[in-house]
Amino acid sequence: MIRLEHVTKCFAENTAVDDVSLEIKAGELAILLGPSGCGKTTTLRSINRMTDIDSGTIFVDDINVLEQQPDELRRRIGYVIQSIGLFPHLTIARNVATVPRLLGWDAERTNKRVNELLEMVGLDPALYAMKHPRELSGGEQQRVGVARALAADPAVLLMDEPFGALDPLSRQRLQVEFRALQRELGTTVVFVTHDIEEAVLLGDRIALMDHGRLIQFDRPETLWLSPATPFVSSFFGEEFALKILSRHTVFGIALERVSPDGLAQVTAETSLKDALATMVSSGRDALSVSDGLGGSAGVLTFSALVHAVKE
Ligand SMILES: Nc1ncnc2c1ncn2[C@@H]1O[C@H](COP(=O)(O)OP(=O)(O)O)[C@@H](O)[C@H]1O
Ligand SMILES: [Mg+2]
Repeated sequence: MIRLEHVTKCFAENTAVDDVSLEIKAGELAILLGPSGCGKTTTLRSINRMTDIDSGTIFVDDINVLEQQPDELRRRIGYVIQSIGLFPHLTIARNVATVPRLLGWDAERTNKRVNELLEMVGLDPALYAMKHPRELSGGEQQRVGVARALAADPAVLLMDEPFGALDPLSRQRLQVEFRALQRELGTTVVFVTHDIEEAVLLGDRIALMDHGRLIQFDRPETLWLSPATPFVSSFFGEEFALKILSRHTVFGIALERVSPDGLAQVTAETSLKDALATMVSSGRDALSVSDGLGGSAGVLTFSALVHAVKE
């Protein structure tokens, strides 16, 4: 779906992107992660030709982007950045309608799409459509930014630290909602962040970069269990295992058929990170898992939890 082959970009003496090759599958949410200045934004912007590369090739849907008109490319590829870039003098509805208008959609189709999108990102059109950006909170503006980028139903969405300016609570809520929306729509997403927690929570795969080079592109579990270089483990740090726990739930782990009496209870949907926290705070090395009918489906032991992550 998106394929970078030997992409290199220099600014004067500085090699911002150094011979990067990677292939992102259709419907995948791929993260570009790494320290500040490692080349994430430059790599991302090369995909919709906001940055022209020095050498290499980039394909989107088997079309060489270097042979496409940049304007046309940017209409087909959604783009969301941290500072949002909403037009302050336009209403929320007009902001979301930017690309459909460029594409020449009629008013009826555009309005229908705008309402649909505002609902999709959790903003009631009746309340928000006619407001201006300054009347919205940071989190609400960011939702409008996502709605605008999805307006023409792009197959590909590029996002550069889109939730970076939000307070932790709105940020977490938007991450979870965005992930669900992305899965539902099947949009292919390339998502830049320097936040490990965000990368591990959202990414199907993470491309870890350093000094313009791609170090490893894998599922978080693989980065954790089979790091390509010592940089990978040191970048993710000691808490990597705990972050991985947040990606998995209790569902699917074999439970013990022993008495759940006196144990704290969780559900099958509880994340393993929360399950571990519940074990620690209840002072026991086991939990009861509810069967959804008011009873217990069995007991999750600490040892089963630990082995489940390794597998
Ligand atoms: N327009 C530019 N002109 C000159 N240098 C740039 C420009 N854009 C990025 N760089 C440099 O390229 C390197 C990679 O930048 P960038 O891709 O923005 O990194 P990241 O997004 O990972 O923080 C940095 O050293 C940065 O200073
Ligand atoms: Mg950047």
